[in-house]
Amino acid sequence: MADTKVYRASTTAPVNIAVVKYWGKRDPKLNLPTNSSLSVTLSQADLRTLTTASCSAAYPAPEGDSLLLNGEPSDVSGARTQACFRELRARRAALEAADPSLPKLSTMPLRLVSENNFPTAAGLASSAAGFAAFVRAIANLYELPASPSELSLIARQGSGSACRSLFGGYVAWRMGSAPDGSDSRADQVAPASHWPEMRALILVASAAKKGVSSTSGMQQTVATSGLFRERITTVVPENMDKMEKAIAARDFAAFAEVTMRDSNSFHATCADTYPPIFYMNDVSRAAIRAVEAVNAAAGRTVAAYTFDAGPNAVIYYLEQDTAAVVGTFYHLLGGLDGWKADSLKGAQSAVALDEAV
Ligand code: DP6
Repeated sequence: MADTKVYRASTTAPVNIAVVKYWGKRDPKLNLPTNSSLSVTLSQADLRTLTTASCSAAYPAPEGDSLLLNGEPSDVSGARTQACFRELRARRAALEAADPSLPKLSTMPLRLVSENNFPTAAGLASSAAGFAAFVRAIANLYELPASPSELSLIARQGSGSACRSLFGGYVAWRMGSAPDGSDSRADQVAPASHWPEMRALILVASAAKKGVSSTSGMQQTVATSGLFRERITTVVPENMDKMEKAIAARDFAAFAEVTMRDSNSFHATCADTYPPIFYMNDVSRAAIRAVEAVNAAAGRTVAAYTFDAGPNAVIYYLEQDTAAVVGTFYHLLGGLDGWKADSLKGAQSAVALDEAV
């Protein structure tokens, strides 16, 4: 009798926010970066993607693979999504070849259903959590004996930053040097328990979809910015080194300085792109001034800002400074029109780090 069973597996994946940013591809096809990067994984209680993957020989073959993202059909024909399907199917097919008693899941159409609990494409790294959940859900469905590090090689091909969302805590994506990308993968620098006081406050300056996508923005930067060359040869390697030391020593002042400098350096290369790209807006710049004011009032570094390819601020701070940081933010920003109008009515959450993903 034909196998009409529906096979199914679900998983969740967290958002990560880089403190040393990935910006630039040396190989757009394999999604290999021009520099290493390092991120902090946020708690799934606040921000996560939940994905269910299923497959069945009873799914009509002509429809092929499909993805429902936040209730809407989403295109899966793009090269990046196809690369993930291909890599995962090849690994499953190898298992099936080695053990003919296994059901032939690799030949069945796949259906994915994915939900974010935060605004998609608002600069909150939804593609990172999205592709990480996508890859792990299918890997679970296929019962692949793959480690997070191996899955990071596949997720990277969906979206670069996704390779870091396969781990909790503090995560590095090593750029690697192999032409086939086999050493361009993520690893955990430290678990969340190493520095459990770390917190992140997300200030939503705008939940609208971003203007220039990361993919096209970074391509334009690579092609046109002179400052970018300085960033990838000198600035980022130094920042990676300093950041790993700051995390190892739990030195918040050092962590904060590298985080803010690296965000500034990344946005400077965006401004140096021709024509220039501006992700930050007046509200974002007010957040920078507010962090400076919070640190000046405390007489030490208690907060660090960082911005991805959008205007929303992520503020890192330590638990013991919650009153100083979150309290002062409310106080300061309440007096600014931009914040009143745009941001404070948006999602604002203090999130802890994830222990294990
Ligand atoms: C600014 O991972 O979204 O958030 O690989 O083209 O999908 P693609 O890019 P993506 O870029 C993220 C850029 C960033 C910095 C970072 O997360 O490191």
